[in-house]
Amino acid sequence: MTPSSGQALPGQVAEVARLMAEHPMGDAVVERVEGRRIRVAGHWLTDFASCNYLGLDLDAEVIAGVPEYLARWGTHPSWARGIASPALYQQVEAEVAELLGVEDALALPTLTHTHFGVLPALAGEGTLLLDLRAHRTMHEAAALARAAGATVRRFRHNDLEHAGRLLRGASRSPRILCLDGVNSMTGNAPDLPAFAALARERDALLYVDDAHGFGVLGERSGYDPSPFGRRGNAIVRFYGESYDRVVLTAGFSKAYSSLLAFVACPSELKRHLKVVVPSYVYSGPVPVASLATALLGLEVNRRRGDDLRALLWQRTRALLDHLDKLGVATSNTSGFPLVELALADPGDLDAVGRHLFDRGIYVTLAPYPVVPRAETGFRVQLTAANTADQVDHLLAVLEEVDDRFGFRRPHP
Ligand SMILES: Cc1ncc(COP(=O)(O)O)c(C=O)c1O
Repeated sequence: MTPSSGQALPGQVAEVARLMAEHPMGDAVVERVEGRRIRVAGHWLTDFASCNYLGLDLDAEVIAGVPEYLARWGTHPSWARGIASPALYQQVEAEVAELLGVEDALALPTLTHTHFGVLPALAGEGTLLLDLRAHRTMHEAAALARAAGATVRRFRHNDLEHAGRLLRGASRSPRILCLDGVNSMTGNAPDLPAFAALARERDALLYVDDAHGFGVLGERSGYDPSPFGRRGNAIVRFYGESYDRVVLTAGFSKAYSSLLAFVACPSELKRHLKVVVPSYVYSGPVPVASLATALLGLEVNRRRGDDLRALLWQRTRALLDHLDKLGVATSNTSGFPLVELALADPGDLDAVGRHLFDRGIYVTLAPYPVVPRAETGFRVQLTAANTADQVDHLLAVLEEVDDRFGFRRPHP
């Protein structure tokens, strides 16, 4: 299933539970992996459900580099970071800060840990304003912040005017606007410069989760190898924006195929977060193998990242052009390798999923209430490790699905 936004209500998840229990494309056990092929229940499929955008999970250079780190550091020096951290953490933080062009960065195990610790710490007894379709983990973090005294309000997805109105009405400071960078469902980015300007105008902070953009989108020069820009240094640089009153969070678990996340922030804020974020003070660390793949991935990114992104762009373009040709609607207007497809009849989801599975295609199902009912369908993700033949097969199978079941068409 896809990670949901803030709209799933308790008691409404029966369909999700049923799909996970009964459907071959829910809660699957992957028995083997060969390139971007996976074996599930004895059946080989091409994986279009992973977010390993740069394909670094399969990169020979990254894989070969790990044993040296293990030999030097052991598998898992299990101090909480507040007690001690292998120097690898410092190296990651310095490299992230340099790549993003931000003063400093604090590395934490996951983005979920990051939101749960950092959002309540930033909000205190002030006000959190969340985009309704911000990632579910931010909505959960907001519940923690509320329990600690913050006021929480939600604004309509990407609705600057609504956010501005709520911000003007929010008397309790600090005030923090929270949104996704590249949205995990649509693949589209918000108007970050406009939200940053709003935050600055109103003496608020803009808190952005760019889990998907980091490693894919980056600074643009006008003559880049792909419209994703260069260096994969995330949404703030993609827009040529500054970090003034902007806190960027992102993770390595997508483009960099590693368990690790970070908050990019001024050193002064980092010192404060080290004391108050529970996962820094109390939680176990990231395994050395993951710190190693993050560092090796950053090295690959320096030398080959733009080539991988250009390949990723080509693969995604082939899919989007084909959908265009079929006249199928997708919310993706950005060209990002995350493409949501809605079915003409939401009741067909089960059968469509089985058809895809039988034809060797693995995707992420998106049932209601994970998405609004009219958007019931599935999400396709591409990575630089998907071959051109795999994408051709995907296009043929999508055409079959369109013939047999029908995708939603664009509104006239
Ligand atoms: C936008 C977004 N934020 C946060 C997360 C959670 O990240 P993590 O696995 O690092 O906790 C995800 C994971 O899918 C995501 O898509």
